[in-house]
Amino acid sequence: MKILAIESSCDETAAAVIEDGRNIISSVIATQVEEHKLYGGVVPEIASRRHCESINGVVKEALSQAEMKLDDLDALAVTYAPGLIGALLVGVNFAKGLSLSSGLPLIPVHHLRGHIAANYLEHKDLKPPFLCLVVSGGHSHIVEVRDYTEMTVIGKTRDDAAGEAFDKAARTMGMPYPGGIYLDKAAQSGDPDAFKLPRPKLSGNPYDFSFSGLKTAVINLIHNAAQRGETLPTADLSASFRKTVVDILLTNFISAAEKSGYDRLVLAGGVSANSLLRKRTEQECKNRGWKCYYPPLQLCGDNAAMIGSQAYYEFLSGNTAGMKLNAAATMDIAAPVY
Ligand code: KG4
Ligand code: ZN
Repeated sequence: MKILAIESSCDETAAAVIEDGRNIISSVIATQVEEHKLYGGVVPEIASRRHCESINGVVKEALSQAEMKLDDLDALAVTYAPGLIGALLVGVNFAKGLSLSSGLPLIPVHHLRGHIAANYLEHKDLKPPFLCLVVSGGHSHIVEVRDYTEMTVIGKTRDDAAGEAFDKAARTMGMPYPGGIYLDKAAQSGDPDAFKLPRPKLSGNPYDFSFSGLKTAVINLIHNAAQRGETLPTADLSASFRKTVVDILLTNFISAAEKSGYDRLVLAGGVSANSLLRKRTEQECKNRGWKCYYPPLQLCGDNAAMIGSQAYYEFLSGNTAGMKLNAAATMDIAAPVY
């Protein structure tokens, strides 16, 4: 089954043709990152405009690289939630138009389910059930993936997402958007024990996260040093921050796996590109005789290939949409409404 998938939830306009949920026939991404860099983060209005300008060309290019026409496809798929509403609407309306004119069925895909599915494109043996840590710019979830379209969130952030914390700490250190990547690089040459940073103490659900205290602590350290006319060593601060975030994520992820009996752990989302998170998850799994999976770097960030992969499984579960499909800025990964 060949699916043309479209993704426009944030600042990448992407289209891909995917076969049977597992094989990438073509994948095209037009990123807007250089323009948003000027403002230190994504400007939603600019993102929507650029999606409008790029989407036609990106979809054409994905079909051309696949050497296919609409007639060669079996279905269309689109990210409809969650994300920036104006950005999502561009993809959703384009996909609806294409579905109406071609008669192809339209499959709505939840963006975070797509991030999880990025793993299916790389690891052909990976099948649910498994436990997944979904860490992106807007979300930090521990998800029990019981089946391709059946999941339960067993822990999540109560405030900032991990990616957001990375980006804000990096910005305060003077790094460009998206800061997580730059902070990860700077951390390579730093001492992770140079700064002792706070870890959250939360009551209630033991698998929930919190990153706002840590983020504020780093921002205060930098501002206090600046008031004294000092600058802190960026590499050491980056390494200490990265280690603390990874410790917070893995403490809950590992204990959730131990408690619920999962021995296959999967990383997903933009932050799964973090080199320490990948290394440490691998080590923790190896120590316990568990299996560890994460996407290749080019599939960690936003792309349409992952949307086409998840779309295949949504289609098999009967999840298609009609012309009433709307975009939504927020949507539960466990119980999407189409
Ligand atoms: O999944 P994604 O591409 O977009 C959303 O759906 O939000 O995630 C983007 C986030 C950004 O916050 C970015 O800084 C972070 O992923 N990120 C990283 C790394 N690469 C991307 N964070 C830490 N280390 C990295 N290497
Ligand atoms: Zn994403």
